[in-house]
Amino acid sequence: MALPTPRKKVFKDRVVAIDLGSKSTKAALVKAQGVGKLILESYTIQDTPVLQGGIKPENAPVLASHLKNLLKELGHKPKRMGIIIGISESILRQVEMPARDLSDLRQMIKFASKKHLQQELKDFTFDVFVPGDPANADETESTARSQSPRKVLVGGVRDELIDTLQTACKSIGAGLDHVGIHLVETINAFESADPEVFADETVALVDIGFKNTTISILKQGEMSLNRVLALGADKFTGGLAEALNLGYQEAEAIKLGMPPEIQSMLESQLSNLGQELRVSIDFFEHQQDTPVTQVFISGGSAKSDFIVNSLQTELMIPCQKWNPLSVLDTSGGSFPQIDEDAVQLGGVIGGAVSLVNA
Ligand SMILES: Nc1ncnc2c1ncn2[C@@H]1O[C@H](COP(=O)(O)OP(=O)(O)OP(=O)(O)O)[C@@H](O)[C@H]1O
Ligand SMILES: [Mg+2]
Repeated sequence: MALPTPRKKVFKDRVVAIDLGSKSTKAALVKAQGVGKLILESYTIQDTPVLQGGIKPENAPVLASHLKNLLKELGHKPKRMGIIIGISESILRQVEMPARDLSDLRQMIKFASKKHLQQELKDFTFDVFVPGDPANADETESTARSQSPRKVLVGGVRDELIDTLQTACKSIGAGLDHVGIHLVETINAFESADPEVFADETVALVDIGFKNTTISILKQGEMSLNRVLALGADKFTGGLAEALNLGYQEAEAIKLGMPPEIQSMLESQLSNLGQELRVSIDFFEHQQDTPVTQVFISGGSAKSDFIVNSLQTELMIPCQKWNPLSVLDTSGGSFPQIDEDAVQLGGVIGGAVSLVNA
């Protein structure tokens, strides 16, 4: 999804995608070579600075200095880059829209958000996304192949957020070409990384973030359900701090090592999360009469085998850590941590794919 920033042609050779998570920022420098070949040149994962109130104009200087550090770490200042934002900074709706091309749909939503989204959203910029549709990558291609209405994903962000990101980028001499929404970029990356599973199976993508967990169910490439659950890594650490009577930072450090003696303290939180995910899956399965056959889990918490296995026990569906790295050629650099970090990189890889295809 490319929430339209003032259009300029993307600098295709090398792009930087930045997934601005609420806890940790993932950034990657990717070189495009030939058709569909993406070479990872460098990546970094750093703490996101506290942005009181979110991505607001007053936080542009903090953001600028964060972006500057990330680019320094990546070793390249691109002319153009993309920033991926989380679900809490955006709105995402699944709606039925007439068969028109994407730019018409954007305009229709902008001028009648109440009608199409059942909510008056002033000063928002929208984009429309149809999973599996090549027209997502080509704005000039007409998508009106079928005349019947179809389900589309509408993403929207406040204009002020785009302005803030642009101000921050401009102040460090970088251009902003793309603003993406994490959940959508994850689906983009999944489609590129596992095209056969994407096209043939019914799967759930679960991203355990900091405050929230998202679940998306894809039925043979079609987006069928999206839910946001208010439970994530922050609550796991908070619960552990309480159980151990320790401060948050100490509890966080212990959680990252996940020694067996603390695992039982996370069980009730994981069971809650598993049950909530199960409710979404049950809802989908009953409504569509189709079983979800696999669950792909991403986000920092998915680094823990214990967390992934606990969710599998609760869901009773095969769960695996989602590894989106097949999209990238990683042979050109030394990335000793990358197999472990892979679960956190779906958003940034999806963003890089969107940038290169733009
Ligand atoms: N090995 C690990 N075991 C358990 N949890 C981990 C591990 N490594 C990282 N985490 C957790 O992952 C969290 C960060 O995950 P992630 O990067 O997916 O969040 P985010 O993208 O910043 O959040 P959001 O998507 O909600 O904005 C941290 O809060 C940390 O506690
Ligand atoms: Mg995230």
